[in-house]
Amino acid sequence: MKKDIIKINNLSIKTKVNTNLYLVDGISFSVKEGKTTCIVGESGSGKSLTALSIIRLLSPQLKMSGEILFNNEDICKMSELEIRQKRGLDIAMIFQEPMTSLNPVLTIGYQIKEAIAVHSDLPNNKINKKVEELLILVGIPVERVNSYPDELSGGQRQRVMIAMAMSCNPKLLIADEPTTALDVTVQAQILKLLDDLKRKLNMSMLFITHDFGVVEDIADDVIVMFKGKIVERGEVNHVLKKPKHPYTKALLGCVPDALGKKQLTPIDYEKLDRAIQRL
Ligand SMILES: Nc1ncnc2c1ncn2[C@@H]1O[C@H](COP(=O)(O)OP(=O)(O)OP(=O)(O)O)[C@@H](O)[C@H]1O
Ligand SMILES: [Mg+2]
Repeated sequence: MKKDIIKINNLSIKTKVNTNLYLVDGISFSVKEGKTTCIVGESGSGKSLTALSIIRLLSPQLKMSGEILFNNEDICKMSELEIRQKRGLDIAMIFQEPMTSLNPVLTIGYQIKEAIAVHSDLPNNKINKKVEELLILVGIPVERVNSYPDELSGGQRQRVMIAMAMSCNPKLLIADEPTTALDVTVQAQILKLLDDLKRKLNMSMLFITHDFGVVEDIADDVIVMFKGKIVERGEVNHVLKKPKHPYTKALLGCVPDALGKKQLTPIDYEKLDRAIQRL
């Protein structure tokens, strides 16, 4: 049985102004060592907030409660200095939007170098060597090291984000919809890259998406979020083949198949609410 790299117990997030409104409502789940857990759910279901709470980057207007155990240490109880040391080194995150996460006026080489230098005291020549290795690892030609983000394609920018996240060999990588803005062929390449890196470096991954096609490709375990709660969880094949919750069934009904033979069924929220109330 694999050990849990991260275990979340009863995590809740609400705003400081409206303390009755739970944006994330008492969720518990874990990610096993060397495995990928996918969080799937529609827009606004609380996926990104859950991810941000793990690296303690929630907006100051929000308040969280519960336990987030990383290798049995509670992240919620760490000092700002302790969590800063964990970020990047043990836990890295790829954010939803690569263009807003990269600095447009700095070259990609410089930005990857900075990511390495934050957590290491390697001399300059070794850092430069590591930048080259990372570019090769993520499949960007080394001669592009002095390019600016806007000189790269969307897929290449996302690869730069992955190189930065990989710069310190994190034990857990959180990827928040890293392929949403990309076309399907580039999406498939990035998913394969992440999966290969996970295996090569024995990393664990928490992968956020609203796309069940992506879940099928990359997940070992899946949790389904709806309105801040987990409504279904389990081993990926089990959830995909035998979904139990009406929302999971409804979401699966919206996944197109490549040949376009399947009749797509948009979610009827009134019907869904009635089905959930009958549970
Ligand atoms: N700083 C904030 N203040 C108040 N509400 C917030 C704040 N940040 C997020 N929310 C709300 O919390 C809910 C969950 O947001 P979250 O970003 O986690 O959604 P998500 O599942 O990642 O959606 P998407 O798929 O669109 O990225 C949303 O209703 C959002 O409007
Ligand atoms: Mg999000």
